[in-house]
Amino acid sequence: MRILVTGGLGYIGSHTCVCLLKNNYEVVIIDNLSNSNIDVLEKIEKITDKKVTFYEGDLCNKELVRKIFKDNKIDEVIHFAGYKAVGESVLQPLKYYRNNLDSTLTLLEVMQEFSCHNLVFSSSATVYGTPKKLPIKEDFPLSTTNPYGTTKLMIERILADVSKANKDFKVIVLRYFNPIGADPSGLIGEDPKGIPNNLMPYIVRVANKELPILSVFGDDYNTHDGTGVRDYIHVVDLAKGHLKALEKCLKSKGIDYYNLGTGTGYSVLDLVNTFEKVNKVEVPYKIVNRRPGDIDACYADPTKAYKELGFKAELGIEDMCRDSYNFIIKNKESHN
Ligand code: WQD
Repeated sequence: MRILVTGGLGYIGSHTCVCLLKNNYEVVIIDNLSNSNIDVLEKIEKITDKKVTFYEGDLCNKELVRKIFKDNKIDEVIHFAGYKAVGESVLQPLKYYRNNLDSTLTLLEVMQEFSCHNLVFSSSATVYGTPKKLPIKEDFPLSTTNPYGTTKLMIERILADVSKANKDFKVIVLRYFNPIGADPSGLIGEDPKGIPNNLMPYIVRVANKELPILSVFGDDYNTHDGTGVRDYIHVVDLAKGHLKALEKCLKSKGIDYYNLGTGTGYSVLDLVNTFEKVNKVEVPYKIVNRRPGDIDACYADPTKAYKELGFKAELGIEDMCRDSYNFIIKNKESHN
């Protein structure tokens, strides 16, 4: 089976490509390197001792996408490519709507031209907005509070309409909770450019003394210790969830939606304390004001993914903390 992975050199994309290759899939990647590095390609090949077919370019370039489908018989597509910074999307909404929607529409049109009918889409728990209760199930109300999340919701709606109009078109939508961690080899991991927006990459840089102190965004939330609670899932587990989705897609009809989370929530201070204990390092922090748009708590009901995909996260918060730090240590020279 040959899988096209859009955004395959990114954080989740690269870990998914490693998992696909280890399971004897053939992998074709398109990536425009806007939020990834070309050296990830050789690292994927090094980890798996397998070759990847790579196209550098933009998914909005229809001729390039057509060339990929002409050059390769693509059986299924996993669509990761897209901008994903919540804060940036608020400041530059048109950049997000143009890129995330245009690239998806181009992909879908070319898939139809080449009769490729199987798609796994990278969505996000952000489409649930502020949940009225927890844990979150797939049939909960959907709402978004920022342009990034709105592009994810809009794409879900587009995919639902296309699968309704074309009975052959099958889609599995995966709604990720909070992916963290790294491949145990330490060769690939979460490596955002500039100052990290997300918690774990920030913690890692404070532990590695690249940044002086962690700002904890509020300790007055309605949680066990007042800091924000999230459902952190190891990126290696998340990658395995995509394989299960690919298998399910071949046997399914229409569109279906699955939460990919552990079902357990941890607070910011839980993560800081675990990180310090597991890695024997210090992570100095200070409590500051809440970050606008943040919610108190968010964690998944993972039952549907377990029952219908056979997916269950296996790695724990300690593994996530250890592997996140190991990645930075192994790549220290590129971080100091
Ligand atoms: C986690 C917790 C913060 C940074 C976002 C996107 C979501 C998905 C994952 C793409 C919160 C706190 C954070 C810091 C802190 N991305 N925090 N200090 O906001 O749950 O989800 O990333 O799909 O769509 O919304 O993740 O890691 O930014 O925050 O205290 O420097 O850590 O308040 O409670 P979030 P996060």
